[in-house]
Amino acid sequence: MSDQTPAFALELHATDGAARTGILHTGRGDIRTPAFMPVGTVGSVKAMLPQSVRETGADIILGNTYHLMLRPGAERVARLGGLHKFCGWERPILTDSGGFQVMSLSKLRKITEEGVAFQSHIDGAKEFLSPERAMEIQRLLGSDIQMVLDECPAFGGSEEVIEKSLALSMRWAKRSRIAFGEQPGKGNFGIVQGGTFEHLRKRSAEALKEIGFHGYAVGGLAVGEPQAMMFETLDFTVPHLPTDRPRYLMGVGKPDDIVGGVVRGIDMFDCVLPTRSGRNAQAFTWDGTLNLRNACHAEDTGPIDTECRCPACRQFSRAYLHHAVKTNEIIASMLLTWHNLTFYQDLMAALRTAVAEKRIADFARTFIARYGERKS
Ligand code: GUN
Ligand code: ZN
Repeated sequence: MSDQTPAFALELHATDGAARTGILHTGRGDIRTPAFMPVGTVGSVKAMLPQSVRETGADIILGNTYHLMLRPGAERVARLGGLHKFCGWERPILTDSGGFQVMSLSKLRKITEEGVAFQSHIDGAKEFLSPERAMEIQRLLGSDIQMVLDECPAFGGSEEVIEKSLALSMRWAKRSRIAFGEQPGKGNFGIVQGGTFEHLRKRSAEALKEIGFHGYAVGGLAVGEPQAMMFETLDFTVPHLPTDRPRYLMGVGKPDDIVGGVVRGIDMFDCVLPTRSGRNAQAFTWDGTLNLRNACHAEDTGPIDTECRCPACRQFSRAYLHHAVKTNEIIASMLLTWHNLTFYQDLMAALRTAVAEKRIADFARTFIARYGERKS
């Protein structure tokens, strides 16, 4: 790294209540916050070219340690020049550590103090992920924001179970931070766990602050709890996080979850929803969601959204998109993903402006009133 590598640092421009807006500087470019990070699990955002992802307004994408370690392998990606070059995205990439995906995807998991042993969901091969290996993989990939290895317990666990899991995650966080070392222009994020227990969230945040990270994620949410419970957990967790470091709410979420997260002081989000549901015929709009598979769109000559700047809305009718969905044309996935990512990025831009103009509470109220309940 040259002397010109920008420091990894959050520059806050404005706050409005708990909400904030600013720029997260990294060695690979700036991230406007609050930010939404499209998910590119195995390197690419499904159905999109990297330049198209950029055109939607994304400053950063997310990749997964779990998937990439299994295929094509971290050492191979490193030999090929790193993940950015490999997948054609030159801007920042955040990688999740693998802990969460091991739990949701792999078979025969066994967690010990040392790490987690599991079988690949691809070929059943025996694999092992320790905090040190999770960080080594993320370094080999060339990730700009590297997450600690953690355990994300299922929703509904007893206080005792969550407390034990949290203690292990904090010991892994310490080992992860040591393994990360110092990497100019890059950041290592700790992950707050503790379920929906106030004292455990506080304990987790304090433990991570004591270790000292470049950013702090809130994990273990959006795992099946009601939205009100997620918001309540944010209300008593975020105040324990340092104000001068980025805050990332992992795996969230629906547009109304994101608005609620920003109001409560979150700076970064990621979710498969806009991409996955785009491949599943669902389109997000300011008036709620639409399902283009629904026959009510068969002869609708209008676009998904008359005000949207994306190619799906500028060049195609709902009738055509309905037809493309029904005939399983690949372009249906491409166009609906493009539209949904554009919607999410436009939402983030509107949120940033609302915070800068100190009208986030009003924006949130107006957004929810219009977005409201699900439509077909
Ligand atoms: N993605 C969504 N939630 C989590 C979490 O709690 N931990 C990790 N590592 N990734 C997540
Ligand atoms: Zn559109």
